[in-house]
Amino acid sequence: MNFSLRNEAPSATTTACLVIGIAEDAPLAGPAKAIDESSGGLISRLIESGDIDADREHTTLLHRVDGVAADRVLIVGCGKPEKFDRVRFHKTCMAAGAFLRKHAVVEAHVCLNQMDVPDTDEAWRLRQCVVAFDHANYLYTATKEFKDDSPKPVADASFQAAPDLEPVLAQARGLATGYRTARELGNLPPNICNPAYLAQQATQIANSYNNTAVEVLEDADLAELGMDALLGVGQGSENGSRLIVMHYRGADDGERPYVLVGKGVTFDTGGISLKPRENMDQMKFDMCGAAGVIGAFEACASMQLKLNLVAVVAAVENMPDGKAYRPGDVLTSMSGKTIEILNTDAEGRLALCDALTYCQRFEPAALIDVATLTGACVIALGHHASGVMSKHDDLAEELLAAGQTAVDRAWRLPLWEDYNAQLKTPFADMKNVGGMPAGAITAGCFLAKFTRDQRWAHIDVAGSAWKWGATEGATGRPVGLLTQYLMDRAGQG
Ligand code: BES
Ligand code: MN
Ligand code: ZN
Repeated sequence: MNFSLRNEAPSATTTACLVIGIAEDAPLAGPAKAIDESSGGLISRLIESGDIDADREHTTLLHRVDGVAADRVLIVGCGKPEKFDRVRFHKTCMAAGAFLRKHAVVEAHVCLNQMDVPDTDEAWRLRQCVVAFDHANYLYTATKEFKDDSPKPVADASFQAAPDLEPVLAQARGLATGYRTARELGNLPPNICNPAYLAQQATQIANSYNNTAVEVLEDADLAELGMDALLGVGQGSENGSRLIVMHYRGADDGERPYVLVGKGVTFDTGGISLKPRENMDQMKFDMCGAAGVIGAFEACASMQLKLNLVAVVAAVENMPDGKAYRPGDVLTSMSGKTIEILNTDAEGRLALCDALTYCQRFEPAALIDVATLTGACVIALGHHASGVMSKHDDLAEELLAAGQTAVDRAWRLPLWEDYNAQLKTPFADMKNVGGMPAGAITAGCFLAKFTRDQRWAHIDVAGSAWKWGATEGATGRPVGLLTQYLMDRAGQG
């Protein structure tokens, strides 16, 4: 999608569709007021007559409005002004994007970023607006041909803003691209998107930006490092495992990097502890943590943020097989700690624990892992919030704040040592499952054992990384949260 800025009077802007927002039971303001005035009060009259509904996310399309240069005017309701906040602004932009996506329009001029949103500036509104329109116009075509007679995505969108916001528009493009990458990787089927494919894509992405480098470790390299937990998960698969290490250098060599680690289970059958057949296909999304960190890496490299960043992906496939690891096995992780496997379906933490140990060599400023780790997190938080866990209050707060800013929200769960009792076993340093109670937390506690001296946080995106059901697919979350967190650290937010 092509994005640009235009700054003429909205009524004089030539476009296939002008997009404006209106609040409920409130005087018209900004571009909506301007269009109302140049059309001789048409908008006011239609609100009065009930033909335009200003309720949240309601859309009305007007054609050939007198006194307005645009072919069409799309009016999006924002609801009550006193309740209008960042989340509602985000939803307004998404609703407008979704409307245009479904209609014949392939070019539009958007004025939504000129609305009043408490505690925001023009830069934030432009970024959010661009990302929302790009999100709405993403179309998966990798394994499905696009039909000529179906509505085409919007190809060109301009936004009402002065030219001095060009650098913000460039940032927004980077963010949108990162989101797209994460969604596309998430949506690809597991017979295409296997560990080798993830490695190849990560390499290609890193190579298309400045100041980057990539290393890919294969089975033999991982064995040499002693990563028997990660290798254990992959040993039932014909597809070899990979540890993908992406470097971005935007600050002095001496500066500690921020390190992101993603769970890249390209398909999770559960292994010998086989999952039920219903919805098993959804476990192609079990690499969405990896997709999120690759997407955030791309966004940061595209923005050339002034910090150092490492993104690490533990890419592995969990399959049942004669060679597969079994319940009862004891694996020795790279850290030397032994793990009794009681359920081969709790594989994400095994792949991640070795990746986290590996990352200690980078002496991270912060170490953050992202994973579709537990069904329990979906039970706890549903599909709206990602779960944040950390023993470092400051780091947890920074991540939650970034999620608020980016409207990619997270909620914190505790990592009290009380929960550790659930991981005890007579046969190893720990077992890989903690039983029914607090399943998301005991998974976090498991990872905490491998990050003792690190400034570490864990983000469980099992509920937020994709939408259940046929149409939507991968959301690209938490690219927004992670990128915002890094922009804030670089002082470029
Ligand atoms: N990838 C799953 C977690 C998951 C399940 C994410 C459903 C999204 C939706 C993970 O590997 C898993 O299977 N976790 C088990 C852990 C259990 C065996 C302790 C789970 O959540 O059931
Ligand atoms: Mn599993
Ligand atoms: Zn899994």
